[in-house]
Amino acid sequence: MTVRSAKDFFRPLAVGAPEPLREIPARPSRAIHFFDPSNEKMAAKVPQLAGTVDVLLGNLEDAVKSDRKEAARAGLVKIARDTDFGTSQLWTRVNALDSPWVLDDLTTLVGEVGEKLDVVMVPKVQGPEDIAYVDRLLAQLEARAGLSKPLLVHAILETARGMVNIEEICGASPRMQGLSLGPADLAADRRMKTTRVGGGHPGYLVREDPRRTSDGVDVDVDGERATYQQDLWHYTIARMVDACAAHGIYAYYGPFGDIADTVACEDQFRNAYLLGCVGAWSLHPKQIEIAQRVFSPSVEDIVHARRVVDAMGDGTGAVMLDGKMEDDASLKQCLVLVDLAEQLAARDPELRKLYDDAVPDERPTP
Ligand code: GLV
Ligand code: MG
Repeated sequence: MTVRSAKDFFRPLAVGAPEPLREIPARPSRAIHFFDPSNEKMAAKVPQLAGTVDVLLGNLEDAVKSDRKEAARAGLVKIARDTDFGTSQLWTRVNALDSPWVLDDLTTLVGEVGEKLDVVMVPKVQGPEDIAYVDRLLAQLEARAGLSKPLLVHAILETARGMVNIEEICGASPRMQGLSLGPADLAADRRMKTTRVGGGHPGYLVREDPRRTSDGVDVDVDGERATYQQDLWHYTIARMVDACAAHGIYAYYGPFGDIADTVACEDQFRNAYLLGCVGAWSLHPKQIEIAQRVFSPSVEDIVHARRVVDAMGDGTGAVMLDGKMEDDASLKQCLVLVDLAEQLAARDPELRKLYDDAVPDERPTP
């Protein structure tokens, strides 16, 4: 694809639109809590949730019935106007680019409440051309509304073509803030044979080798053999993390549909956290706590990371701590955790206290 010259990349795409950001701010977004703005019960809870969750997202796309699309859009405008979001960010997920609703979603939201919105999540993104379309349209709408800061764009990775074009999508605009895995749509598009929203599948496994029979010649294929369930999403998440990190943007797990299975939800979120994701979606208030806990570095990790930072002095060379070698590279991993802890603690007083009160346990210095 022909790209704009590097000189022009950060020029606004419409006269009067705000300048694109050079760097995507690392704002905490451990839980992106979805609500349906057309659902009065859910809408009524938004003011109480504001300030307690990193991101509140008004969902206009899937899970909102077609005859509620306009009510959802109007509901989100009202909520955005009437709510003081405190330290929470406000995001929206607009309808797909080929739907009859998306043009009005973008026009209305940017025109009416653009100053309150931080990020626009775009579903079913197929390639950089989708981002280029949204990029220009947002610039025109921002210019018309006189907005002072650019809206950021978050793409959901939920088509095979989107996967194939993942790097180009991440680099398609300075507005790109991040990617989320959309496991339900992606599974359907790829013809995976699952029927769930995220999570594993008991049929996706590896099995221990068969034992030899007593004559030592034959193998006992029907004998007892341990099986281990594998993670269906490992490749996708790993690929997403690399594409995002290479472009200075953020990767997110996405939805986990089995609300009652808080244990497996936590496992999936933790795998994503360990692989490099910064957050996940929350579809029910009980998933907020899981995401905000799992995507925050543990106190033990921070205690250890700070010890390594202290021990490594100017950051070069190697030291032994508790029998393990630490060097420039392990220091860099520790700094990822310490920096993340700092960003999160700056907005979460409970975490600030946890991290500040943490003291290393007394171990002999070797
Ligand atoms: C989310 O939108 C998904 O399709 O999983
Ligand atoms: Mg989807």
